[in-house]
Amino acid sequence: MISDKLNDLQDYPFWRMNALVKDIPLPDGHADAIPMWIGEPKHGVPEIAREALSGSFDGYGIYPPIEGTPALGRTMAGWLNRRYGLPDTLIDPDRAILPVQGTREGLFMIALAAVPRAKGSKTPVALLPNPFYQPYKGGAVCAGAEPVFLSCRRETNFLPDLDALTPDVLERTAIFYLCSPANPQGTVADLAYYRRAVDLARKHDFLLVSDECYAEIYDREPPSGVMEICAADNDLSNVVCFHSLSKRSSVPGLRHGFVAGDPAFLEAFLRLRKYAAASSSMSHYAAADVLWSDEAHVAENRRLYREKIDIAERILGNRFGFYRPPGGFFLWLDVGDGIEASKRLWGEAAVKVLPGRYLAEDMPDGSNEAAEFIRVALVSDLETTRTALTRIAETL
Ligand SMILES: Cc1ncc(COP(=O)(O)O)c(C=O)c1O
Repeated sequence: MISDKLNDLQDYPFWRMNALVKDIPLPDGHADAIPMWIGEPKHGVPEIAREALSGSFDGYGIYPPIEGTPALGRTMAGWLNRRYGLPDTLIDPDRAILPVQGTREGLFMIALAAVPRAKGSKTPVALLPNPFYQPYKGGAVCAGAEPVFLSCRRETNFLPDLDALTPDVLERTAIFYLCSPANPQGTVADLAYYRRAVDLARKHDFLLVSDECYAEIYDREPPSGVMEICAADNDLSNVVCFHSLSKRSSVPGLRHGFVAGDPAFLEAFLRLRKYAAASSSMSHYAAADVLWSDEAHVAENRRLYREKIDIAERILGNRFGFYRPPGGFFLWLDVGDGIEASKRLWGEAAVKVLPGRYLAEDMPDGSNEAAEFIRVALVSDLETTRTALTRIAETL
């Protein structure tokens, strides 16, 4: 017996990419391709985390608490307050913030806590950006919601088009996943956009899930966050945000992030997590505490990403619809046919990128909003990135 819900999930983009190039040989003289297909930061684990990671050996002798430690709760809340200028009174570290073992699992599992069996006797809806981070759809489908994909086009700053929401859909909406800075396009929601989304969530009683995992990687201005709206209203209802150390601190292997917001919702989420979630080890909690408390290593990461975007601007100029992403570290390039371009880059240039199509939903008529694009992750060192971008420009 296998759940038929899983039939609604396409193979994960990275599997599809591997299958796409499986039978295409790399060009002569190349043992491997330069990896630009996965958003895995390669700037190195910050040294400041070493002691915490090796110093809490005895922690492996206990079951770590799923809600983290009181000290970590205060640290995470303190970072959120500093980052967005929130009053200390908004986020109660004991009730309004929870660690997650990497935000992927939290973003998936949150739908299980937010989606009811029915909303007003109708099938509940999960609103998703299109293209989207795949676990949003995984959570929505496994929670029994109908995913509704919101178009993210250039004209809407690559953010979900809120004008396209109909009264029927809004009435049935149980959860809305929003991603800013957006993966893959790197555009950011401003406060006016967040205001509209929060007001809709409260008016139609759904949970707004604001995925802000790339909030610390930005070009010029620190992106706004949804908690600024909650602070203005002094109200956390119907809203949560997710933050991660994976991109901020280049520690995707630490598997640490947090969710903060509506305490009534987080109480229910914690109840679910006590049944279902894996907690991090005490040494990982200790390392997370150190990393959320430091800004110097994050500033250095930002500097490196900015330098790589400078390199991309010099090499790509105004080709392939290049623009400087205001947030995150992906280039979203319009190459005409993303799948063909990805195959050629693999076979002719030994560069591995991701076809945009794999990140977006195939519509019943066969169309796909991201078919013309490739996503290029600027995660390697400066020289490798320069080499890869030069090869991309020459090949395409
Ligand atoms: C948009 C977005 N959200 C969340 C995540 C999850 O990151 P992590 O599980 O490492 O916290 C990723 C990772 O690539 C992402 O791109």
